[in-house]
Amino acid sequence: MNDPHLLIDIHDGIGWITVNRPVQLNALNAEILHALRAAMESLGANAEVRVVVLTGAGEKAFIAGADIRAMQAMDAEAARAFCRLGHACMSNIAALPKPVIAMVNGFALGGGLETALACDWIVAVEHAQFGLPEVTLGLFPGFGGTQRLRHAVGKARAMELIFTGRRLTAREAHAWGLVNTVVPAAELRNTVLDVARAIMANSPAAIRLAKRALLQGLNMGLSDGLHYEEEQFPKCFERDDCVEGLTAFVEKRRPVFTGK
Ligand code: HXC
Repeated sequence: MNDPHLLIDIHDGIGWITVNRPVQLNALNAEILHALRAAMESLGANAEVRVVVLTGAGEKAFIAGADIRAMQAMDAEAARAFCRLGHACMSNIAALPKPVIAMVNGFALGGGLETALACDWIVAVEHAQFGLPEVTLGLFPGFGGTQRLRHAVGKARAMELIFTGRRLTAREAHAWGLVNTVVPAAELRNTVLDVARAIMANSPAAIRLAKRALLQGLNMGLSDGLHYEEEQFPKCFERDDCVEGLTAFVEKRRPVFTGK
């Protein structure tokens, strides 16, 4: 996990992960993807961490995609391994049993947008740009973009972005429902902190169960999804957080959640 291209910092319940390769606009190579997987696993298992924030170093890019120079040297077999690694990494992010916020501080292109799409929440700076330009390189999105973008914005808009490779401004991405909030650069970090604190006021156990139900439901039809919710909902009642939340309401006090 000691990759200089990935910085990890834990502060007040928040695990900050920064892709730190600003000269190459934080392009993702295999080493960074391995380090990102390890970081997610470690922060996922760390009870101190309630929310994870993923961002890119510098002011220009969140992540400008998979490393194009590295891909130039790949044959089909190497490309399969790279695609698999990217999928494993994005699945690690999506399956983390705590919320992951993408703090998009600039370009989120190709594998960069696919990384943001694996996160649960996107806060973007005003100058951020979003797109899947893979077809301009003779590729198509291979870190989950063909699936997660469709889930996020629907088929028509996913086709539009993937077929044209065009970039959306942060405001357009917000209007498309891809991004939760757009803010000026000076407000980016504080906005993310506000989001993280709002989440951290609530039951980690309930959020963990809710996230799983929501994401599992994406793989199912409505009736199977509702059935899954019905299976999972009673699990709240086996958690201390539920007893605390219900009791605190009745006692007219703020709950103190432990996540258990
Ligand atoms: C490797 C990259 C890179 C990338 C930028 N750089 N993006 N290197 N891989 N994805 C490097 C540039 O080569 C350059 O290095 C330096 O970062 C600065 O970039 P510039 O192009 O000089 O900056 P600018 O003119 O401001 O343009 C910014 C940009 C452009 C619009 C973001 O860099 C760009 O189009 N990047 C590629 C975006 C892209 O196509 N992403 C999708 C990749 S495919 P040097 O050394 O030349 O100065 C992908 C597939 C995922 O993500 C799935 C795989 C299985």
